[in-house]
Amino acid sequence: MILKYDVEAGEYISAGESSAKVKKILKKLCIDPAVIRKVSIAMYEAEINMVIHANGGEISTEITPEKIHIILKDDGPGIEDIDLAMTPGYSTAPKEAREMGFGAGMGLVNMKKNTDFFKISSEVGVGTTVELTVLL
Ligand SMILES: Nc1ncnc2c1ncn2[C@@H]1O[C@H](COP(=O)(O)OP(=O)(O)OP(=O)(O)O)[C@@H](O)[C@H]1O
Ligand SMILES: [Mg+2]
Repeated sequence: MILKYDVEAGEYISAGESSAKVKKILKKLCIDPAVIRKVSIAMYEAEINMVIHANGGEISTEITPEKIHIILKDDGPGIEDIDLAMTPGYSTAPKEAREMGFGAGMGLVNMKKNTDFFKISSEVGVGTTVELTVLL
């Protein structure tokens, strides 16, 4: 099963909608709650990052009997130093995002922690792609 979503830029209010929809579908499919929890956390963090740091983007979620594989692609500003971005506590979140409780610099760390495979690739001026896989 493949599910596709568009994430709008600057939509703090509806941010997290796609991960909420996927969570609901996984529940209906009676997927292991521990897997649902990991997918929800990782996908939510990646989705929010596209809203806060990029111009929104596209999400593709594939559900198979073996795994849940999510690709989040944006054409935002990109990340110059991925190792630095992965450092716990590092954040460039703007003031309005911080006022809403984002910007702890823990999103990428949490994605890695909650997935079996995590990949981030980015090019400055082109965009960022995050791949998340949780095995069933
Ligand atoms: N999709 C993206 N496009 C551009 N930059 C990004 C993207 N995702 C992450 N970054 C950069 O990596 C940094 C770290 O991201 P991370 O998700 O760990 O923290 P955060 O979003 O700043 O805060 P938190 O996720 O804890 O609310 C961001 O502050 C930003 O500079
Ligand atoms: Mg984040």
